[in-house]
Amino acid sequence: MKTMAIVLAAGQGKRMKSKLYKVLHPVCGKPMVGHVLDVVKEAAAERTVVIVGHGAETVKSYLGDKAEYALQEQQLGTGHAVRQAEAMLGAEEGTTIVICGDTPLVQASTIQGMLELHASSGAAATVLTASFGDPTGYGRVIRGADGGVQRIVEQKDCTPDEAAVQEINTGTYCFDNKKLFAALSQVTSNNAQGEFYLTDVIGIFRTAGDGVQGYCTNDTSEAIGVNDRVALAEAERFMRERINRTHLLNGVTLIDPQSTYIEAGVQIGADTVVYPGSVIRGATIIGEDCVIGPQADISDSSIANGVKIKYSTVAESVIGDKSAVGPYANLRPGSKLGAECKIGDFVELKNATLGDGSKVSHLSYVGDAIVGKDVNIGCGAITVNYDGYNKFVTEIGDHAFVGSNVNLIAPVKLGDGAYVVAGSTVTHDVPAGDLAIARERQVNKPGYADKIRARAKAKKEKKN
Ligand code: UD1
Ligand code: CA
Repeated sequence: MKTMAIVLAAGQGKRMKSKLYKVLHPVCGKPMVGHVLDVVKEAAAERTVVIVGHGAETVKSYLGDKAEYALQEQQLGTGHAVRQAEAMLGAEEGTTIVICGDTPLVQASTIQGMLELHASSGAAATVLTASFGDPTGYGRVIRGADGGVQRIVEQKDCTPDEAAVQEINTGTYCFDNKKLFAALSQVTSNNAQGEFYLTDVIGIFRTAGDGVQGYCTNDTSEAIGVNDRVALAEAERFMRERINRTHLLNGVTLIDPQSTYIEAGVQIGADTVVYPGSVIRGATIIGEDCVIGPQADISDSSIANGVKIKYSTVAESVIGDKSAVGPYANLRPGSKLGAECKIGDFVELKNATLGDGSKVSHLSYVGDAIVGKDVNIGCGAITVNYDGYNKFVTEIGDHAFVGSNVNLIAPVKLGDGAYVVAGSTVTHDVPAGDLAIARERQVNKPGYADKIRARAKAKKEKKN
């Protein structure tokens, strides 16, 4: 039988107090609706329709062709939202998962468990429920004497007895597709919020004599529906714990998981150790046997094996085997290090390629540069790549040596094995194997130090 999914993502999310549409708020770096979509895909939905409304274009451009879309022009409630998919899915035979775009912690394995119960019980609907010590804000699940779900009552419509029920509706369900749309046509907006509630179909099924099951998850974190930033922070914490646990089980050491921030989608190899305060984001891939942190901020980068990065920022960069970065280095987008490179303290790289074994150990800026193998760039050396209007490239050949405090005025090229002495300002290419000196010759004036002190002292006294 066919499995489909409808993701509700048309609400504005007023309680978020944000310019960003609610379902696009990221949890561990990935928008909530992205988490939900990946999970329904994993749970084997063959067709997925996302109901969009507020921010429809933004949501669609984020999800792209991962889903089909139905527009809900006015947000008249979750039942009304699901009806918008009728033109697309109404004719299908099968099971339809309905899930809210603001419940990023629901897991595929849980949805699969719910689908299994649904299939074996022959119910018209199965509701994913959870039991909360404090159920405030959620719809309450009212069970009948047979143990099945009788109805779902929204918080605002609860009697005091109903409000005391701790089993809540997570907002994830599966339905017999045909029965779902038939029941939806009977839902009214006769309730405290004047909305068409999806949850009312449960009562409609029961009245028609159909069964409704409740599938209760023991992992209450799965039930978090993010309506405000308090819940967003809570969702982030649970998701972080889940991500970190996966890395730990995969053989990654996290010295203190509580203070390690790894976004969804990051890959880390076995025997890598991550020290506290590290933030690893985006599409970052880290190899085996690396030492990351303390306080490394790495985004969208590819890090090979045996790399060490401490107290440093690395963005959209590539780092080869056994290279070392930091402390206090800033690798900006387009930095590409070969194997066994060393980038030391207060070094900034941008759009710069370094061959194997090259070193920039202290206090340098290397931007728009192509640097060969086994090059040494001395303390304080910089590429002067910008004239206020244009960027220029510096090329440095294999085995070249750039002394301390050298300015390389781009565009400029140092040939293989070239040697630039400290303090030089290089404005012309240096051929392979040549030595460049571009600085004033030193003059010593014997005994002059005392004279100059006396002169300075006299000037100060005159002023006072
Ligand atoms: C809903 C459930 C409640 C459940 C809770 C779980 C209903 C009536 N209530 O309440 O039982 O405990 O989720 O988190 O279903 N949306 C639309 N169009 C609309 C209204 C909502 O697309 O017209 C979307 C929202 O963008 C959101 C989702 O549906 O992603 C849920 O809506 P929300 O207003 O957050 O429902 P809750 O009050 O949380
Ligand atoms: Ca909600």
